[in-house]
Amino acid sequence: MKIAVTGAAGFVGSNLIDELLLGDHTIIGIDNFSTGYRNHILHHKENKNFIFHKLDLSANFDSNIFEDCDCVIHLAALADIRYNKSNFKECLNKNVTATNNVLEACVNNNIKKLLFASTCSVYGDALVFPTKETEVKNQTSVYSSTKIASEMLLEGFANTFNFHAFSLRFVSMLGQRYSHGHVFDFTKKILNNEPLNVLGSGDGIKSYLHIKDAVKAIEMLINHRSKNYFEAFNVGHSDTIKLKYSVETIVNYLNYKGEVNYGEGLSGWVGDVPVIAPSIEKMKALGWNPKFSIQKGITDTIDYLVDNQWLLNS
Ligand SMILES: NC(=O)c1ccc[n+]([C@@H]2O[C@H](COP(=O)([O-])OP(=O)(O)OC[C@H]3O[C@@H](n4cnc5c(N)ncnc54)[C@H](O)[C@@H]3O)[C@@H](O)[C@H]2O)c1
Repeated sequence: MKIAVTGAAGFVGSNLIDELLLGDHTIIGIDNFSTGYRNHILHHKENKNFIFHKLDLSANFDSNIFEDCDCVIHLAALADIRYNKSNFKECLNKNVTATNNVLEACVNNNIKKLLFASTCSVYGDALVFPTKETEVKNQTSVYSSTKIASEMLLEGFANTFNFHAFSLRFVSMLGQRYSHGHVFDFTKKILNNEPLNVLGSGDGIKSYLHIKDAVKAIEMLINHRSKNYFEAFNVGHSDTIKLKYSVETIVNYLNYKGEVNYGEGLSGWVGDVPVIAPSIEKMKALGWNPKFSIQKGITDTIDYLVDNQWLLNS
């Protein structure tokens, strides 16, 4: 297959491309390196099945880059929810405008399948756990509202132009090349011998997913056939972990003996959803199920960061 991957140099995109290039595919990678790293894709430089375009998807770009693609996987975004209060305009540009531009480019090239990286944050303060795909409620951050707005665009375009658009509502992912989130922040602090100041009480409960399981879910949906032009899928772990226990895992794994201070309240920052526990039954019905535990995700992330401290310091 010929597959375009936006956000190619990011955490998810680069892991996905590593896996796809093991198969019989040609990959068109697209990134502007705003939060991604050249290092993450440099090892494919000589691979004739990998073609890379450095460009900004929120600006005008030549839609021919999608020419003859069987599938477009749109991962590019401003992905770090914590800063969406201070840079909401950038969030709108990189998440909604870029998605609109990608959709237009898909239409121009008669693309038959688009996969989109959304988030389980779109459930906001959910009332039902495990939360099913039908439970979208209130948006608690600009980030999540840009994702649900993008999903609506996907649905409208898919039904108008008759192509399949699947939205993958991910929980937070862990593993190699992870570059934003609490495991990153705390590993960095511990390696610098600084105190750990946890945002919030640490009582928030969340599902996390190993990047290897996330990549398998994406691969499965590349090949999924549906009678609906638009569908959303939760992509998470059926297990959850309290932030406190995640911090404990990090502290024990790195044998940290310093200070750990907890804040107040369930939410760590504006827009933080304190309980994320999606139902993954829909993905399981397709034959996908996470193989890695959340603990393994945390320790694999720490191992990677310890071995790649350039990322911690970039
Ligand atoms: N990482 C997670 O835990 C997580 C959880 C839920 C959803 N998601 C979603 O998954 C996707 C990938 O996330 P990630 O963790 O790999 O983030 P990331 O920041 O590592 O990767 C995003 C990539 O997109 C690129 N990019 C951003 N704006 C661009 C633009 N306008 N033009 C071209 N390239 C652009 C960045 O340079 C970066 O390489 C995002 O859409 C994110 O919202 C991620």
